[in-house]
Amino acid sequence: MGSGHYTAHIKVFSNVQLLDENRWYNFDDSQISPISEDDVNTAAAYVLFYRRVKNDDASASNGAKSSMLSATYTHPSNLIITCSIHSLETFKSMELFSTQTLLLFLSFLTFLYLHHRKPKTTPTGFKAYPIVGTLPDFLLNRHRFLDWSTDVLRNCPTHSAVFKRPGKVHGIMTANPDNVEHVLKTNFHNYPKGERFIYLLRDFLGQGIFNSDGDLWKLQRKTASYEFNTKSLRNFAIQNVTVEIQTRLIPLLQRASESESVLDLQDVLERFAFDNICKLAFNVDPACLAAEGSGDATVGGVFMRAIEDAAALSSGRFMSVFEWVWRLKKFLNVGSEKRLRESISIVHAFADKIIRSRMETKDDTTDDMDLLSRFMATEDNSPEFLRDIVISFILAGRDTTSSGLSWFFWILSSRPDVKDKIVKEIETVRAWSEKSDSEEAGGFGYEELKELKYLHAAISEPMRLYPPVPVDSMVCLNEDVLADGTRVKKNWFVTYHTYAMGRMESIWGSDWAEFKPERWFVEDSGVIRTESPFRYPVFHAGARMCLGKEMAYIQMKSIVASVMGRFELNAVDKDTCPGQHLSLTLRIKGGLPVRVRPRK
Ligand code: HEM
Repeated sequence: MGSGHYTAHIKVFSNVQLLDENRWYNFDDSQISPISEDDVNTAAAYVLFYRRVKNDDASASNGAKSSMLSATYTHPSNLIITCSIHSLETFKSMELFSTQTLLLFLSFLTFLYLHHRKPKTTPTGFKAYPIVGTLPDFLLNRHRFLDWSTDVLRNCPTHSAVFKRPGKVHGIMTANPDNVEHVLKTNFHNYPKGERFIYLLRDFLGQGIFNSDGDLWKLQRKTASYEFNTKSLRNFAIQNVTVEIQTRLIPLLQRASESESVLDLQDVLERFAFDNICKLAFNVDPACLAAEGSGDATVGGVFMRAIEDAAALSSGRFMSVFEWVWRLKKFLNVGSEKRLRESISIVHAFADKIIRSRMETKDDTTDDMDLLSRFMATEDNSPEFLRDIVISFILAGRDTTSSGLSWFFWILSSRPDVKDKIVKEIETVRAWSEKSDSEEAGGFGYEELKELKYLHAAISEPMRLYPPVPVDSMVCLNEDVLADGTRVKKNWFVTYHTYAMGRMESIWGSDWAEFKPERWFVEDSGVIRTESPFRYPVFHAGARMCLGKEMAYIQMKSIVASVMGRFELNAVDKDTCPGQHLSLTLRIKGGLPVRVRPRK
């Protein structure tokens, strides 16, 4: 390596997240005496990590010369740090881009400043400008909304901040467990979903449980919570999961391992979850996982894509800066609203057909286990209302478990120590269940799944860092004061930020960034700790808490136990934190390519 002075653009990742982006370092290689390139990389990663921990922004002192160097360093606490060093050219083009963006933004601010009063900036919280409120900062950070808002909340004294959108849409964002308890439990009746939320999703979800308040919600909640607590529904769920694993998932992974091909695990998990929730909701098998590789031309595949599009396009309405834009598009039936209308009509046609044929053959003596049969047996509901009920359940169970498991498998790819513990536990439980003869045919029964405690913790931990539902909002009916003293005005929204809460030192301690299943156990014991749902609201909390939590764990644990006992799954790009795709759930942008090998 020749001597000289270098400026490099560096990205720093830990095994769980991107730690640093767009950070530039000056290197003077006279400060080190490199032995080989590998040593330089390891040293560079170490120095970067060390300086970050020490909060030291000074230039790193290490050498770099190639166009893109990447290094990995495992900290004693098992945190894996990767740093990528880009070339000078990369740095320059990045700089040019950000300078232009900055100039545009500064011109915009100057315009606002000259024409209006000074922006009302508080020392912490979201910056609010006259008329446009938080919009400028929101637009600049929309591509990294979750991390940006997390940083803002982290720096607020009680982790709550006012968020002002144009058009007087104001609200509070909070990552404070006491506030979450206040809104979801103590003063629950003052915080419904509200007319705006329901209006935005009404075309897609109608009056289903996800999209209703008051008596309509109560009615569905009562029937559903009774059914979700029955042993028969649980057994039905376990049986469906086992069949899907044995007849579709395992053969698919087997084929991938034999051909040594790369597959998109997120897509596979989404298809699995979709088949599964359709069976549970109306006992129909869309066979989306079976169609893997042969396109989505099947009726079930078309239905799945239509639901996916309808969810993404409906959630786009929430992110739209000016509400009149989507309303106008809807009125004119153009663009995204035209596509939304088309997807919704596919979804409705599919569901209507099933419901009508089921109504024609309605038989009170039937012992069908699915949710539709149960709602048909208990209430005299119209076909449209039954359709709304079923679609809400499909949406609830569709992307949530697949999102949780996709992030789980990505993190696990760089944690062989955790993998080993999971596999060991699976082997122990297998041996035990074979002895007691309680194993379900080829799969895992309820009792075995209950015994997989380390796996339970290892699945809960990534959902802390990457919750499938990262933010959730309610509306305030009457002016109120939250537990931390924040005032909320009538009609303001209140958003609790689950993603930010999983990353708060005040809740999880200074090692919050570390992927550590052990934190879920009562110290030095094999007993799983019961975490307050207000500190970990991944499944919501209070009266509207997720009804499918137990079923979700059954599904996720069954998949992991069956797959990891047989195969070794590794993300192709395990050291790069994947991009985030924020729809109604938090998905991995571009999917999760993995390589599958048989476990030795
Ligand atoms: C990892 C998986 C899952 C996560 C993280 C999750 C999370 C959540 C969250 C945050 C809510 C509140 C949403 C809201 O404000 O309306 C919710 C509600 C709900 N979830 Fe889940 N969920 C999961 C899986 C499931 C599954 C598999 C089902 C069904 C089989 C299900 C059924 C429901 C239902 C019916 C509600 C509405 C409850 C109500 O409004 O009263 N969930 N879930």
